[in-house]
Amino acid sequence: MQYSQKVLDHFMHPHNVGKMENPDATATEGSPACGDQVTVYLKVDEEKKTIDDISFLSYGCASNIATASIITDLAKGKTLDEAKAITWKDAMEALDGLPPVKVHCSVLAADTLQTAISNYEIAHGLKEVPNFGKDTIVEELKKIIYPQVGEDIVTLKMVKYVGFTDGEVLIDMNMQSFDTWRENVAEEIREHLEKYPEVKHIQINFP
Ligand code: FES
Repeated sequence: MQYSQKVLDHFMHPHNVGKMENPDATATEGSPACGDQVTVYLKVDEEKKTIDDISFLSYGCASNIATASIITDLAKGKTLDEAKAITWKDAMEALDGLPPVKVHCSVLAADTLQTAISNYEIAHGLKEVPNFGKDTIVEELKKIIYPQVGEDIVTLKMVKYVGFTDGEVLIDMNMQSFDTWRENVAEEIREHLEKYPEVKHIQINFP
């Protein structure tokens, strides 16, 4: 596995590491793919809505530490709206890429930043707690990376159908029986969705 020089630099000398005292918002997320965890802390200027300070703690691998480091660099000084536009792809690009099996690590870092911003906005009445529905499921599926190519399963058109009625999630997948990642992807879908109390049962169908 080859890491770029930038990944190695950020891993060995990460920026913005550490627990923040009295943050305005935090979020901790875990990766269902590997069990690693990241916490992001934010200090926000209430008037200008800018991220004045940001830091992170990672219990993750080298690429997770590197992506958390770069994502905090990218978000620092930005307005909340600008920071909301930062994706795992931006982090990957800023790091000159990651090996495909390590892309999920950048998703974890980006996702934790987005959850911290969302927690701030909810706590300050800037947005409502979103209702769980089909859109939430699709957003979660977009965080699941097909490890062979390092792209998410929605973009790769591996998801044919998503339904949600009375707590029942129904997902039809477009992955062939010879695809050795099938079980791995199904497991990750379950782990991403089971955390929602609204989800009572998950049915995943393959062709
Ligand atoms: Fe767990 Fe990278 S392998 S975050």
